Amino acid sequence: MNKATRKAIIAGNWKMNMTPSEATAAVKKTAELVAGKDGCEIVLCVPFVDIAAAVEAAKGTNVKIGAQNVHFEAKGAFTGEISASMLTECGVEYVIIGHSERRQYFGETDETVNKRTKAALAAGLKVLLCLGEVKEERLAGITDEIVAMQTKLDLAGISAEDMKNVIIAYEPVWAIGTGLTATPEQADETCGVIRATIAKLYGAEVAEATTIQYGGSMNDANAAELLSKYNVDGGLIGGASLVPEKFDAIVTAAN
Ligand code: PGA
Repeated sequence: MNKATRKAIIAGNWKMNMTPSEATAAVKKTAELVAGKDGCEIVLCVPFVDIAAAVEAAKGTNVKIGAQNVHFEAKGAFTGEISASMLTECGVEYVIIGHSERRQYFGETDETVNKRTKAALAAGLKVLLCLGEVKEERLAGITDEIVAMQTKLDLAGISAEDMKNVIIAYEPVWAIGTGLTATPEQADETCGVIRATIAKLYGAEVAEATTIQYGGSMNDANAAELLSKYNVDGGLIGGASLVPEKFDAIVTAAN
């Protein structure tokens, strides 16, 4: 398998934006714009409280709905948390795990990312697993080591079979919400390091079949060039996903 046969995934990460009524309008507008653009998978990852409205608005369209986090236990005394089966019953198909904002502000570690990933996969969710280096790590020249380490720790104990439902989102932390984008060459190279690490863990066939997205200030102006790179199979898009026209332009670039 190679880039031509890996299906690109363009996923929006709304973060903590949009009330349920705003979500209904935004999903409908996005679905209208991306209708028929089936050369890539299209996902919107919305806040938990928007899920019902978003799933309803996406019915009968090519837009899939995702969540932005999931707890690793199935149920119990974990105030404020949401389980994987709660998500699947609501019609959620994808979940973002390990986003750098969760790692940075909410104490997420590679260990909890790994546990959440296992719980999500066991419930039948597809996982958008985020990893990437911070600015100091890139400047110190240790990006490759950092992403290889995160890939190994985050995927520990996950089977080759389960890798069919794992998408890696390479998100250099210094590029998220900053307007700074990795160059297409940097994105391709680091996504390549992640793919090579997956090859070491699971073999070349699994590595070539795994979708690896780039995320970090991807927008309508830079998407086409980033997406043209061999190791970049899609995008995880924050800011630009809140504007249906901009998100649609990225979907068009992926098609
Ligand atoms: P950004 O966010 O596109 O706003 O940089 C990307 C992300 O955090 O997933």
